Amino acid sequence: MKNLLVTGGAGFIGSNFINHILDKRDDVFIVNLDKLTYAGNLENLKSSENKKKYLFIKGDIQNHELVEYIFTKYKIKHVINFAAESHVDRSILGSEVFYRTNVIGTNVLLETARRFEVERFLQISTDEVYGSLGETGKFTESTPISPNSPYSSSKAAADMMALAFYHTYQMPVVLTRCSNNYGPLQFPEKLIPLMIINTLNNKKLPVYGDGLNVRDWIYVIDHNKAAELVWEKGKVGEVYNIGASREMKNIEIVKLILKTLGKSEDMINYVKDRPGHDRRYAIDSSKIQNELGWKPEFEFETAIQNTIQWYLENKNWWERIINGSYLEYYNLQYKNR
Ligand code: NAD
Ligand code: DAU
Repeated sequence: MKNLLVTGGAGFIGSNFINHILDKRDDVFIVNLDKLTYAGNLENLKSSENKKKYLFIKGDIQNHELVEYIFTKYKIKHVINFAAESHVDRSILGSEVFYRTNVIGTNVLLETARRFEVERFLQISTDEVYGSLGETGKFTESTPISPNSPYSSSKAAADMMALAFYHTYQMPVVLTRCSNNYGPLQFPEKLIPLMIINTLNNKKLPVYGDGLNVRDWIYVIDHNKAAELVWEKGKVGEVYNIGASREMKNIEIVKLILKTLGKSEDMINYVKDRPGHDRRYAIDSSKIQNELGWKPEFEFETAIQNTIQWYLENKNWWERIINGSYLEYYNLQYKNR
């Protein structure tokens, strides 16, 4: 049995990861430690919550005593750290919580994992640590780190820390850096769910700047299968890029959503650009493909339609969120400028 601590497992990617693992494996016992910030939602884990090999604990990864208690009580030997403040726009509004959770929180986990001699520590990172690309080229694992936002700088700091723990203490650390995810259960502050929900609610679609920024999209299950592989088979001390080679301009995504939902492009509203907006991301994932035999399984064309369909069928899930005070605040700060 693998006793695995998953942090941030009530968020978008973490909950999809837990549901995926518990659906198909019975050799993993998962303790999910999540603070349930605005982005954490236990409804995401409905299919897992009653499983014997699953336990949820509400708490902060910065809480030394709690983290130590969990390692002791549940004999944790594996850690996957998904927990983070994850939204770039929010990091521009206020960065402190990003450094607290993403840097200090990761430090608490690494220090505890070191003392308890874990067998594996997977730090879930992001392609945003590499900064921004021009019109050509892709990020490889040897692209220099050059983060531009408070969010990405906090993730880059955590990456450097995790690698330092490998070099200094020979801790069995591995890292993944993935591109933009989409799929069910994504909090509607991010581009794709926000645009789907605004379209369904006949609200304007706020496109930043000229709409020509490029993101490289991957279906969340493809990311999670890659993370599972790196967790168990990745070489310690190594970084693995994850991406599905599906570059899209933001405006193309927005138009695709409008077309799918039968709405007019008049709903598009070009708004002031995000400060420091990275122009283009593109991931070279040949290392994980060649060394670990991973490849993306989901075609963008099908998976984006399934994602739109999921939001159509799960109105209750997102209505509860957008009726909450958080998004009201968010909309006031950003969408109407
Ligand atoms: P999310 O915002 O949907 O979820 C984050 C989760 O972490 C939430 O459940 C939240 O409650 C929890 N959390 C936040 N602070 C915490 C704390 N101090 N202690 C315990 N739990 C805390 O994020 P996501 O999109 O699922 O991203 C998960 C991870 O993947 C992050 O590390 C992010 O940097 C990384 N990532 C995301 C993407 C993407 O496209 N979304 C791409 C690459 C990497
Ligand atoms: O690349 C991986 C990263 O992808 C992750 O590390 C982050 O956690 C995740 O949030 C995501 O970051 P982005 O900033 O790329 O995602 P976001 O969905 O916020 O924005 C995608 C693009 O769409 C970006 O160019 C900004 C633009 N955008 C976004 C929103 C929310 C708009 O034009 N309008 C919007 O309302």
